Amino acid sequence: MAAVDSFHLLYRQVAWSCQSHMEFLAVVGALYTAGKGLKLICQSYNLIRLHITPLLFSRTNLGRQYGAWAVVTGATSGIAQAYAEELARCGMNVVLVDNNREKLQKMSDSITATHGVNTSFIEVDFCKGHEAYRPIKDALRHVEVGILVNCVGNFLEYPQSVIECPEEQLWKIIHVSVSAATIMAKIVVPGMAQRRRGAIVNVSFRSCCKPNFPMTMYTPCQLYMDGFTKELQSELSSKGIFVQSLTPLCVAKERTLHYRPSFRFPFLVPSPEVYARHAVQMLGVSHRTTGYWAHSMQLAAACWLPDFICQLMGRFLHTASE
Ligand SMILES: NC(=O)c1ccc[n+]([C@@H]2O[C@H](COP(=O)([O-])OP(=O)(O)OC[C@H]3O[C@@H](n4cnc5c(N)ncnc54)[C@H](OP(=O)(O)O)[C@@H]3O)[C@@H](O)[C@H]2O)c1
Repeated sequence: MAAVDSFHLLYRQVAWSCQSHMEFLAVVGALYTAGKGLKLICQSYNLIRLHITPLLFSRTNLGRQYGAWAVVTGATSGIAQAYAEELARCGMNVVLVDNNREKLQKMSDSITATHGVNTSFIEVDFCKGHEAYRPIKDALRHVEVGILVNCVGNFLEYPQSVIECPEEQLWKIIHVSVSAATIMAKIVVPGMAQRRRGAIVNVSFRSCCKPNFPMTMYTPCQLYMDGFTKELQSELSSKGIFVQSLTPLCVAKERTLHYRPSFRFPFLVPSPEVYARHAVQMLGVSHRTTGYWAHSMQLAAACWLPDFICQLMGRFLHTASE
C-alpha cells in the first residue's frame, strides 16, 4: 500500500516498466509501416510498368508475333465484341464464335468492311456440351490460330443459390463458363505448340470484395478460370505460348464511350471499346491483369480499405454499369 501512496511514485514505476514495451511496440510499428510503404512502392511501380509503359511504345505486329488469326468466343456482345474489333484494328484476321448467326454475319461483314481483314464465324451453342465442339474443330482444322480469346460468359438473370437454381441452368453455367475455355484451349494448343507461338487470353471476373448475395456458381467458375489459366501458363510457357488471365472489374454494358454522362467517375466503368483498347495493350505483357489502369487502381485501393467500404463501392459500381 505504501508503494502507491504517492501518484508520482506510481507513475514512475508504471512508466519504467512500460518503457521497454514501448520500444518493442515502436519497432513493430516501424516494421509494419516500412512493409506497407514497400508494398505501395511496388504497386505504383507495377501500375506504371504495366499500364503506362506499353502506351509509350508502338504495338508490335500481333499477327507476326502470334499467328495470323484470332479466335474470339462470345464475340457478338460486350467485352468480346470490342476485343475482336480491337484485334482486327491491329491487323489480325478474326474468327467470331457465338450463338447467333444473324449477329455473327453482321459483325463479320462490318469488321471486314471497316478494318480490311479476313473474318469468318462459327455459330455454336456452348450449352450443348460435348457436341458443340465438332463444328469448331472442323472449322479451325486448317486455320493458323495465333490468339484465342475465351470470353463467352453465362450469367444467372438474378442471384440464386445452388438450391434455388434449376439443374439444367447449373449445367449451362458449367458448360459455358468452365468447359468452353478448357476445350477451346485443348483445340488450339497443339497447333500453337507445333508453331511454337501463340497466345491464350481467358477472361474472368475479379472481385475486390466478397459479394453479399448468392453467387454460388458464378464466383467458383471465375476462380476456376483464373486457376486454370495459371496452370496452363506454367504448362505452355516452355512451348512459346503466352497465357493471360484477364480479370476486369465492372465494364459498361452499353456500347457508348463512357456510357452514362451523369456518372461522376466514368473512367471507373469504361465502355467495352475503351476497356478492349487497354486490354489488348496488355497482351504479351502481363500474365494476370485487370487489363485497365483504373481497375488495377481500384484493386490496389481495395487492399488498403476496410471490407465494408469495398463492398459499398462494388455495389455502387455494379449498379452503375447496368
Ligand atoms: N461486363 C462486365 O462488367 C464484366 C466484368 C468482369 C468480367 N466479365 C467477364 O467478361 C466476359 C464477358 O462479359 P460480357 O459482360 O462482355 O458478356 P456479354 O455481353 O453477356 O456477352 C456474352 C456473349 O456470350 C454469348 N453467349 C452466351 N451463352 C452462350 C452460349 N451458350 N453459346 C455461345 N455463346 C453464348 C452471348 O450471346 P447472347 O447474347 O446471344 O446470349 C454474348 O454474345 C464474361 O466471362 C464475364 O464474366 C465481365
